[in-house]
Amino acid sequence: MAGKCLALVVPAGHAQRVRTLLKQRGWLNPTFRVVRNEDGSTSIPVISCDVSDWLVLLSEAGLESNKKLGTPDWRLVEGIEFPLCRHSPSPHERLFKAVSSILELHRDGPELPPDWRDQLPRRWERHGDLAIVDQQAFASPFWDSFAPELWTAVTKALGVRRLAKQGRVQPDGFRTPTVTLLLGSDGLVERRENGISYTWDICTCMFSTGNAQEKQRAAMWDCTGETVCDMYAGIGYFTLPVLVHGRAKLVLACEWNPNALHWLSVNLQRNGVSNRCRVLPGDNRKLSLDEEVDRVLMGILPQDPAALPVACNLLRRDRGGRIHLHLTVTSFPEATRSDKRTTWLAAAQSEAQRVETLLDESRAGKWKAVVEDVFRVKSYAPHMTHVVADILCRPH
Ligand SMILES: C[S@@+](CC[C@H](N)C(=O)[O-])C[C@H]1O[C@@H](n2cnc3c(N)ncnc32)[C@H](O)[C@@H]1O
Repeated sequence: MAGKCLALVVPAGHAQRVRTLLKQRGWLNPTFRVVRNEDGSTSIPVISCDVSDWLVLLSEAGLESNKKLGTPDWRLVEGIEFPLCRHSPSPHERLFKAVSSILELHRDGPELPPDWRDQLPRRWERHGDLAIVDQQAFASPFWDSFAPELWTAVTKALGVRRLAKQGRVQPDGFRTPTVTLLLGSDGLVERRENGISYTWDICTCMFSTGNAQEKQRAAMWDCTGETVCDMYAGIGYFTLPVLVHGRAKLVLACEWNPNALHWLSVNLQRNGVSNRCRVLPGDNRKLSLDEEVDRVLMGILPQDPAALPVACNLLRRDRGGRIHLHLTVTSFPEATRSDKRTTWLAAAQSEAQRVETLLDESRAGKWKAVVEDVFRVKSYAPHMTHVVADILCRPH
């Protein structure tokens, strides 16, 4: 396999030095391999840049035009054919190589667990210069004896500077993650999604990257003139898209975790929408509001049975509104796509029925609650899907 590229042709004796300088400046074209020519020169694949830049680099490498002969001892040639680089290793391959070389260096150290290969990270999340490896990675205490050398090698292989390990999200109501920082001094990260900046500390607050599509959908709701209540605001997962893109008039953001409250207020400010958000610290089940709302966001799993009556109670009395209710639905292992969708719709309809009953009981007159649609968010567990039901509620 070959391709054409701009070539910098230099005497073979200078090729290594020139290549190093090119690499430092990022001018080397990494797709192709360097070629030795029959006349003793070397062709180096490069990206094009200014002639004056070449002159500086080449003089640094000890190459200047050969004044005596009147010809330069280097030249730039367009469209030279180069062989493609051999396959560049995947991050998994780089990781395996990096860990293997550390183990090799410490051959006389503690005994290798037989399943050490299975303990290498299979998945990781990247937030800027920080990677969070999955829970099962480096599970045995054996690996700790190679810290911090091992963690440095892993960060290099993954192309980051900080490393953390995911634990279980604690069932403490705050959804506190048990993240262990393996390398680096803090867990502060920033992530941009749909033009929104989210900043948080991975050690104290969770962030579900699996909900990205639902955040994108929330960004597409037209909430102009609406008052919205986000019952589980966290660091602003859905509050921010609804304010930044949905143009909601006001979002009432409920949150009881002090760490999440801190980052929520940082994120509201950073995205320039704090003037349209009222943060309500505390337990959302004890909410007592003067406002009536057009939309309620219920983005938590597992569902809290005590929260649905609160959500219903918040809806506008004159013309109702929408509830975006997150729920899990179990399907048979052999279920087809359409079977699954039927199951999701049935589960959503049964929730709508509950909403209708709650509204009927708590308000004078009859109400109608219908499922507008149901959307898949992500897989939650084997054969269990996290979905969102959009439930439209209107007085009859
Ligand atoms: C699971 S997180 C939100 C996850 C989010 N949907 C995402 O995309 O990542 C739920 C948030 O709701 C908060 N929370 C849970 N129960 C609450 C309650 N009763 N009142 C107020 N906040 C609550 C938690 O502290 C947490 O920050």
